[in-house]
Amino acid sequence: MNQSEIIAKQKEYLWPNHILYYTDPLPLDHGEGLYVWDVEGNRYLDFFGGILTTSVGHNHPLVVERVREQVGRMIHSSTLYPHQNHVALAEKLAQLTPGALQTSYFTNSGTEANETAVMAARAHTGNQEVVALRHGYSGRSALAMSLTAHSTWRIGGAQIPGITHALNAYCYRCPLKLHPDTCGTACAQDIEDVIKTTTSGRIAAFMAERFRVWAAL
Ligand SMILES: Cc1ncc(COP(=O)(O)O)c(C=O)c1O
Repeated sequence: MNQSEIIAKQKEYLWPNHILYYTDPLPLDHGEGLYVWDVEGNRYLDFFGGILTTSVGHNHPLVVERVREQVGRMIHSSTLYPHQNHVALAEKLAQLTPGALQTSYFTNSGTEANETAVMAARAHTGNQEVVALRHGYSGRSALAMSLTAHSTWRIGGAQIPGITHALNAYCYRCPLKLHPDTCGTACAQDIEDVIKTTTSGRIAAFMAERFRVWAAL
C-alpha cells in the first residue's frame, strides 16, 4: 500500500481518536536501530522512541531472535500454567530491584499496571482514596483517565470518585513559581494539604506518574 492509500483507509476504517502527527501523516514501514523508514523509502532519525517503549532501538537482533523463537514454540496460553520465561523474567527483576521489591505481576499495558496498582493498594490498606499529581498521565481506562490530570485526556469527564490531585513537583516550570534552591518543601506541603482538605485523611495510595513511583500508605 502506498502512503495515500494507507491514510485514506485510516480515515475510512479507524476511529478518529487516533490522533496523527503532522499535517501530512507519516506511514512507517520499518525501523533499524535509531532510524525508521516510511513506505516511500525515506529514512528518518527517530526521536520518538515508540513512547518510551523502544528503549533498545528498532529491531534489535537479540530481541527479534528471542521473539521469533518464542512465537515458533507457542504464541499464547494462560498464566494458569507456569512458564520458564515468566519466572525467569520475574527472577531477573528481583535481582535488579532493591529491598522488598522481590515479586512481580506482569501486565499488557501501563493502563492495566495502574489499574492493578490502585486495586492492590486499596485491597492492602482497606482505604479507597488516591492522591495523584497534576499533569500526570495514567492511561485510557475509566480509572486511569480519572487519575490523569490533563483535561485533554479526561475524555467524557473523569467518572471515578475518590481521586484528588496535588501539585506536581516540576522544578523547570514550578507551579508555585519558586526556585529549587529556596523552595524548601512547598510541593510536599501541598500534598499534605490535599490529603488534609480533600480526602478523609486515610488514603490508599499516592501516585507520582511520569516517574511511576508508588507507595502504599
Ligand atoms: C506515564 C504513563 N503512564 C501510563 C501510560 C499508559 O500506558 P498504556 O498506553 O500502555 O496503557 C502511559 C502511556 O503513554 C504513560 O506515559
